[in-house]
Amino acid sequence: MEKYIVHGGNRLTGKIEVSGAKNAAVAILPATILASGVYNIENVPQISDIFALTNILQTLGAECVWLDHSTLQIDTTHVVSRTLPASLSKCLRASYYFVGSLLGRFNYAKVATPGGCQFGATRPIDMHIKGFEALGAKIPPSDEEADDEIIIAKAENLLGAYIYLDKVSVGATINIMLAAVRARGRTVIENAAREPHVVDLAVFLNKMGAHINGAGTNTIKIEGCPDLHATDYSIIPDQIEAGTYMVAAAATRGELTVCNVIPKHLESITAKLRDCGVTVLENDDDSVTVSANGPLRPCHIKTQPHPGFPTDMQSQFGALLCTCTGTSTITESVWDDRFSYTKQLAKMGAKINVTGKIASFEGTSLNGAEVICNDLRAGAAMIIAGLCAQGETVIGKIHHVERGYENIVGKLQACGADIRKENFPGEEEN
Ligand code: UD1
Repeated sequence: MEKYIVHGGNRLTGKIEVSGAKNAAVAILPATILASGVYNIENVPQISDIFALTNILQTLGAECVWLDHSTLQIDTTHVVSRTLPASLSKCLRASYYFVGSLLGRFNYAKVATPGGCQFGATRPIDMHIKGFEALGAKIPPSDEEADDEIIIAKAENLLGAYIYLDKVSVGATINIMLAAVRARGRTVIENAAREPHVVDLAVFLNKMGAHINGAGTNTIKIEGCPDLHATDYSIIPDQIEAGTYMVAAAATRGELTVCNVIPKHLESITAKLRDCGVTVLENDDDSVTVSANGPLRPCHIKTQPHPGFPTDMQSQFGALLCTCTGTSTITESVWDDRFSYTKQLAKMGAKINVTGKIASFEGTSLNGAEVICNDLRAGAAMIIAGLCAQGETVIGKIHHVERGYENIVGKLQACGADIRKENFPGEEEN
């Protein structure tokens, strides 16, 4: 089993380069099967979620070749509709985007239920299903095919529809867009998610010839168009990776320029760092410099759909708030249970009290300890905590981190962090 070994105390300094957005890439790759042809997709992060998706694309008959470190060529000329088994779909959450794209392309999808991080007892997909059904799909197509472990969707013809999402959902918004772009007629998604990756997918689909308006607002309108074509594209920078390094800079009281970012996407993160007394300068169109010195102030955060504070940044801020003087709070309003990382931070001496959806953090000093990553962003929080703790932190279950952060060890080392990856051959992950 591989682990990260972190020795805290070094300030992060210098420059760090952000990779392409995971959550945009994991939607755009499945979208490529909507039209046959050759795509050159730039700014694709080299992370295990992407490798899992290229495996799925290859299973469907696509060819995937890395042209350079971040450019992926995908040839979908020979794609066919095939069942995606659990061995492929459980590798990541975004495998369920193939339900939308297979349905959009072939009027049929058979995809085992997805994997990914768990943030509560269940991670429902009822609104995805309701959306597909509104477009004319039957799920399952017959009672005999009903199976809790596999999603089977079939339509004679997909027809545009008015779809109101009861709750703002990134996944449902994206999946419905994927199914609706080639449907006959107009689809309206009301109460749609407005995240940057939703917009990036819409821009990509429009480059393929789709007619999507309103992405980035809460009403997305799609005029169905069967004649889509392959295209080249460059994926936006990763908002959450950028935010993670900004927080790491603040937590280590460093001075770090975070490059290849869209500052607009970082506004809610920047605002909360400034609340804590961190200096954030927007240098130009694509970099920010974060610097912090001495004691920081506490702050109060509530996670919300974009443009609110992203839930995917709350655990990293949790680690930072442990180092701020006084009492801070985080209210999680997107997921039922996203505070499991606080138990790991407690092993490092953190003073955190969780009551329902609110966690309060009492500033203190952290000490190195043996901890695990409960999920992707929780893993990032463990690294940040390790970087500002006294002594050695040993972090297990790092496969969660490697799903979403490209070369995090190398990038942090280049900024002065004492972090390395080590193999522990005798130990099993459990
Ligand atoms: C995506 C992100 C994830 C992020 C989340 C919220 C990807 C691959 N993952 O996850 O990192 O934390 O957005 O920003 O992009 N819900 C339902 N029914 C549904 C779907 C969702 O009730 O059918 C609920 C969820 O339980 C949750 C809320 O809606 O409480 C938001 O979930 P959603 O935006 O769908 O998250 P994901 O797309 O799964």
